[in-house]
Amino acid sequence: MILVTGGAGFIGANFVLDWLARSDEPILNLDLLTYAGNLETLATLRGDARHVFVQGDICDRALVERLLAEYKPRAIVHFAAESHVDRSIHGPAAFVRTNVEGTFTLLEAARTYRATLEAGMQAAFRFLHVSTDEVYGSLGPQDPPFAETKTYEPNSPYSASKAASDHLVRAWHHTYGLPVLTTNCSNNYGPWQFPEKLIPLMIVNALASKPLPVYGDGLNVRDWLYVSDHCSAIREVLARGTPGETYNVGGWNEKANIDIVRTICALLDELRPSPEGSYARLITHVTDRPGHDRRYAIDARKIERELGWRPAETFETGIRKTVQWYLDNPQWIADVQSGAYRDWVAANYGDRGQGA
Ligand code: NAD
Ligand code: DAU
Repeated sequence: MILVTGGAGFIGANFVLDWLARSDEPILNLDLLTYAGNLETLATLRGDARHVFVQGDICDRALVERLLAEYKPRAIVHFAAESHVDRSIHGPAAFVRTNVEGTFTLLEAARTYRATLEAGMQAAFRFLHVSTDEVYGSLGPQDPPFAETKTYEPNSPYSASKAASDHLVRAWHHTYGLPVLTTNCSNNYGPWQFPEKLIPLMIVNALASKPLPVYGDGLNVRDWLYVSDHCSAIREVLARGTPGETYNVGGWNEKANIDIVRTICALLDELRPSPEGSYARLITHVTDRPGHDRRYAIDARKIERELGWRPAETFETGIRKTVQWYLDNPQWIADVQSGAYRDWVAANYGDRGQGA
């Protein structure tokens, strides 16, 4: 068995579903079910004995220790986090709590638990920490992509909290010998992503004939990876990564935000044409995100060289699948657009003036 934290969120749930589609090794899924966690995403696993779900907080040390002692997992794959940069600007405390304190709690519980295992299981145990490329800071247009050796320069409360957690993970290896692995991945997209992030937000707003809010000039660049490719990278690192090492994961897909939004509009024009004309008419430039990082790009050569991992999807195949998935799943979209979601939209976009 493996323990997955945050397995009801976007990437965690994709990971759980992909894992159980390939293997009968059970998953213990610990998730608090914040606004970002949704058991509907895991509906196909209802009644499946290979999936044990526990609603709980990674900051609850007694709970984590009890679960480790009871289920004796061979590994922890740690996704649980507060993950949205804009929310971290509005309310950073939750990010420090879950991302820093929560990771610390898991590390301490894992260290204590591992000491109780017999030698073979101790050696095989792994703690895989799922992190982000945002810890490296922002690139200029001519800078090389982020390699694992890049200095940490986090700029938002979110990326600072993830950087802090990465440092704790590193220290627990160096000081206590905990067999940790860290992955630093670029922007993910795909099915079941909460519509607060760029790609699903643009799809659901377009389908509702709402403005498509592009921050600033729309020329900020992100490096996009289809979520199932992130999941396959994590499986490779878990199986064959070297403890103490970090692996950058990315799709070699740098795109400016405005190009992403135009691509989504073009796909919707093809797949669900609107009688009112192209969805591109809805594009609206709004006031920029404070401290908005200009460019991220990942150098994914280490994971390819050492573990043979490469993404299976191109951006063109992945974005088409993603748009089609949102068209095919209106009920999931309606379910996650709860009162709390509407409150967030009002808080983040309500007083954002029109931009350049
Ligand atoms: P998400 O916000 O969709 O999901 C986070 C999950 O964690 C939710 O199910 C939530 O209920 C759970 N959670 C939050 N606080 C918790 C707590 N205290 N205890 C237990 N569970 C808690 O996030 P995501 O986009 O799936 O990201 C997963 C991980 O991958 C995060 O660590 C994130 O930093 C990292 N990451 C994300 C991306 C991306 O593009 N989304 C890219 C690189 C890395
Ligand atoms: O790089 C990896 C990171 O990618 C992950 O660690 C984070 O968890 C994930 O949220 C993501 O962070 P970003 O800030 O890059 O993603 P987001 O989807 O919020 O924004 C992508 C880009 O689009 C960014 O430049 C801001 C812009 N944007 C976003 C929103 C929500 C807009 O222009 N308008 C919007 O409404």
